[in-house]
Amino acid sequence: MNDELLDFTGQVVLITGGSTGIGRATALAFARRGAKVVVGDVSEEGQTTIELIKAAGGDGLYIKTNVADAAQVRALVDTTVKTFGGLHCAFNNAGILPPTLPLAEQDEEMYDRVMAVDVKGVFLCLKYQIGHMLKAGGGVIVNTASVAGVIADPGMAPYVAAKHAVIGLTKAAAVDYAKSGIRVNALAPGLVETPMTQRWLADPDMRDVVLSGPLMGRPGKPEELANTVLYLCSPMASFATGQVFIIDGGQTSH
Ligand SMILES: NC(=O)c1ccc[n+]([C@@H]2O[C@H](COP(=O)([O-])OP(=O)(O)OC[C@H]3O[C@@H](n4cnc5c(N)ncnc54)[C@H](O)[C@@H]3O)[C@@H](O)[C@H]2O)c1
Repeated sequence: MNDELLDFTGQVVLITGGSTGIGRATALAFARRGAKVVVGDVSEEGQTTIELIKAAGGDGLYIKTNVADAAQVRALVDTTVKTFGGLHCAFNNAGILPPTLPLAEQDEEMYDRVMAVDVKGVFLCLKYQIGHMLKAGGGVIVNTASVAGVIADPGMAPYVAAKHAVIGLTKAAAVDYAKSGIRVNALAPGLVETPMTQRWLADPDMRDVVLSGPLMGRPGKPEELANTVLYLCSPMASFATGQVFIIDGGQTSH
């Protein structure tokens, strides 16, 4: 692997949902390779991600942001550009999970919340990031979908609908801007050990059920997903756009 192609020195990367889990691992990985990283997240834990980056000699900024709020997303993008002088890559990764229940038992309010964060949040991020990238002459975006964006995991109807929509938004944005130097791809993780999945992995019965998914018999590590995001944002993936990159330990291959 040519290391120069994975050097992000001088680049500015915006990550939503970068307070914990996959987002934090990706923020640290970008910073290690020279990027300035902005974390937009509702959780103040985003500040800890930035402190970890700075402790390792990197640079970044935490901006408290609810991705479902257009004014806050616009301010996130504007402040990123104003503070660090540009926006080269974006990882739209913030997401929430509804309780595990069959469709008829899911409540309407939870459906609306999942749609607001997981779908509208990605739409708003794309809208304001692309607005800037067009002026700058290009950029790269990765949206976090899920294996639930390509198959229906049981008991997760709002999430399955939301993550299918993230893949739709990814393809739509890629089609609209392929000739403008903007690449947009989706990451579709399988089971990954993060605060989101802690409630399953900590419960011995549930752990067995969820671990029957990945063929490797283990959850992914956030860093294993971060590696794919860096690859997609790098020139190594210069001909990849509008695609879904499924990283799931083999879950969807049978
Ligand atoms: N962990 C898995 O197994 C798995 C599998 C497939 C997809 N995903 C997706 O990966 C992404 C990251 O999840 P994770 O597993 O790292 O979990 P996580 O809970 O550690 O991360 C989610 C992050 O999103 C943030 N967030 C939630 N609502 C927000 C909002 N309204 N505005 C801004 N930030 C908000 C949270 O504060 C948190 O930092 C999510 O989109 C999730 O759906 C996770």
